[in-house]
Amino acid sequence: MIEVNGLRKRFGPQLALDGMTFKVEPGKVTGFVGPNGAGKSTTMRVVLGLDAADEGTTLVDGQRYRQLRQPLCVLGSLLDASALQPSRTARDHLLWMAHSQGLTGKRVDAVLGQTGLTGVAKRRAGGFSLGMRQRLGIASALLGDPRAVMLDEPFNGMDPEGIVWVRGLLRSLAADGRAVLVSSHLMSELEDVADHVIIVGRGKVIADTSVKDLLTSASGGRVNVRSQDVAAALAALPEGEPTGPSTLTVTGMTAEAVVARLNGHGVPFSEVSAHRASLEDAYMDLTREAVEYRGVSS
Ligand SMILES: Nc1ncnc2c1ncn2[C@@H]1O[C@H](COP(=O)(O)OP(=O)(O)OP(=O)(O)O)[C@@H](O)[C@H]1O
Ligand SMILES: [Mg+2]
Repeated sequence: MIEVNGLRKRFGPQLALDGMTFKVEPGKVTGFVGPNGAGKSTTMRVVLGLDAADEGTTLVDGQRYRQLRQPLCVLGSLLDASALQPSRTARDHLLWMAHSQGLTGKRVDAVLGQTGLTGVAKRRAGGFSLGMRQRLGIASALLGDPRAVMLDEPFNGMDPEGIVWVRGLLRSLAADGRAVLVSSHLMSELEDVADHVIIVGRGKVIADTSVKDLLTSASGGRVNVRSQDVAAALAALPEGEPTGPSTLTVTGMTAEAVVARLNGHGVPFSEVSAHRASLEDAYMDLTREAVEYRGVSS
């Protein structure tokens, strides 16, 4: 469990964190999403003790990160995939970290395998592509077999196959009971992987919600209809609104009720489907409200 409590942090005139508060529960993938500059990386740096907050506290499994005797075994993290000594091989990079925590070469080989880097273990990390560096960074986060994992933008620089791989890995880490926090400035990257999302903007939490609830509220009980006779469909469904030359959307009815109504009126149709909001839609809905709220309050 990672706990972030009332963090405030100022860089000169810039307020980076403005009361950031949330918890990352075990057994779930928690997405940490917000626009550039929202304070995601700063929060993670504070959790790791790399930045000092002006106010607030952070705890990992009930303790401050700096007090942990074997931190890599409690919280594994990836903040900056380029933070490595370029002349060292991937294996030596991991071996050096492992030895600092009393871990053996066996763990190193295990995480090289887990991240698909076994074949390049003896190559210098300085020559790695961004995607390979991300894999190496993830390997170091997993080295201590930690109970919690915190990854800052792990999808950055990954090809489509790499993205699918990261998603699968995150899901399996959570399925093993770990607390997993993963940041992104793109909600779409977290589709089909996050169980919970914490949406942040201007240094504080805008929404802290399960993905299931978020998608249900964003779908708004809408049903999409495709028909070659939109006029007849609208006559049968006065609550509908046209959305294109052969499509309309009905709110407040189930898909089954829409089909029954169309059949009852003898209206031809080629599709009736419950609208399924994407995480991106839900994010846009939420942040639009947040912008309006800020506009009213300021
Ligand atoms: N070392 C620093 N010195 C000065 N300002 C900083 C520093 N680190 C962060 N900031 C500022 O704090 C704010 C939050 O930045 P942060 O990097 O935490 O955002 P982020 O959510 O990680 O954004 P991104 O999606 O771009 O990675 C920004 O306004 C940033 O300019
Ligand atoms: Mg960042």
